[in-house]
Order: sequence, then structure tokens, then C-alpha cells
Amino acid sequence: MKVNQAEFVISAVGPSQYPADALPEIALAGRSNVGKSSLINRMIQRKNLARTSSKPGKTQQLNYYRINQDLFFVDLPGYGYAQVSKTEREKWGKFIEQYLTEREPLKLVLQVIDVRHPPSKDDQAMYAWLKHNGVPLCIVVTKADKIPRGKWQQHLKIVRETLGADKDDPMILFSSELGIGKDELWSLIEDRIGY
Ligand code: GTP
Ligand code: MG
Repeated sequence: MKVNQAEFVISAVGPSQYPADALPEIALAGRSNVGKSSLINRMIQRKNLARTSSKPGKTQQLNYYRINQDLFFVDLPGYGYAQVSKTEREKWGKFIEQYLTEREPLKLVLQVIDVRHPPSKDDQAMYAWLKHNGVPLCIVVTKADKIPRGKWQQHLKIVRETLGADKDDPMILFSSELGIGKDELWSLIEDRIGY
């Protein structure tokens, strides 16, 4: 997809604020600081449209970015950030779960995992929950530039095994730093939204 236009639309805190355009939505789920916002920026070749931060837990709403008149990227709050109170966490949890199970335009969830570490308990729970609810997903294993190329396959295997992922779940190695995986991910997204 050629990105001619990318704009921030809204930080939604509830369903009444979700855009009514009915464009397909691609949501990003993953632990705080894993690189969700950076991935969006790389996909649209913009340095800082999606807010990135070295401080985890910054994204607390559903941040909508419209790409051309073709789709939205929806940057979800990172999970597993300990310094957020338990009540806060549960409140978000409900809100996000509802979005993921009930949002009609949602076509694909990108579950973003850090290539350097085996998926955490939170990652495993998120994967199992998405599968249990029949939410279509693609595992995106990011920060590939942080490990040597010779170790990529071994790390991808550990990610798949630790998540207990199905053989036919798509998995894409990515680097927001270098652009690795960008074309492959665009192809998958185009396919899923019938572009
Ligand atoms: P929250 O919004 O807090 O949930 O975090 P996030 O998942 O949006 O992470 P973000 O994109 O803000 O990235 C966190 C940090 O990781 C930043 O310092 C990024 O520069 C860095 N980062 C993200 N992706 C990559 C990557 O592919 N390679 C490298 N080397 N660094 C990355
Ligand atoms: Mg973010």
C-alpha cells in the first residue's frame, strides 16, 4: 500500500468515540514498551506520528490513526505494566476486551512480541485469550535489529513454542529501526482488508 496520507484521529476512551467511518481496523496489542507505536510509524514512514516513549505505559487510550481512506491503525494500551494500579488495569482490561470481541470493523490484531525474550506470561495469556475468542491475529516479532541475524530463526521458534501458537498463525519478523518485515506485513494487512 502506498501511504499518501496518515493522520491521528482520536484517543478514544469509550465506544461512543470510535470513528464512524466503518474503515477496517488493524489493532496493535503488546506489552508496554514492546514497540507498538514505533511499528505504526515505520509502516507509514513517519518519524513520530504515533507517540513513542522510553517510559512504558504511556498509551492509555485507543489511539486511532487513519491511513489514506483505507484503514485505521488502532494503538492499544500496553499490557503488563506493573506500576499501574490493579483497579486501573482491570478497568482497561474490560474496555479493551470489549473492543477486541465486539468491534465490527476490526479485521486483524497484531500481537507484538520482543524478539529478544521468550513471550511473558502476559503475552501467553493474551495469545490464548485472542484465540479463545476467535480474534484473527498475526504475531509480529519486533526489534529484530537487537539480535544478530544468525539467531533470528532460533528466537522465532522460541516465540512460537512459548506462545503455543498454531502452525498456521502468521508470524512476521520486524524492525521499526531498519524496516525489516514492513512489506510482508503490508501484504498481510492488504490481504485481510481485501485491498
Ligand atoms: P507503550 O505505548 O508504552 O505501550 O509502548 P510501545 O509498545 O508503543 O513502544 P514504543 O513504540 O514507544 O517503543 C518503546 C521503545 O522501544 C522506544 O525507545 C523505541 O525507540 C524502541 N523501539 C521500538 N521498536 C524498536 C525496534 O524495532 N528496534 C529498536 N532498536 N528499538 C525499538
Ligand atoms: Mg505506544
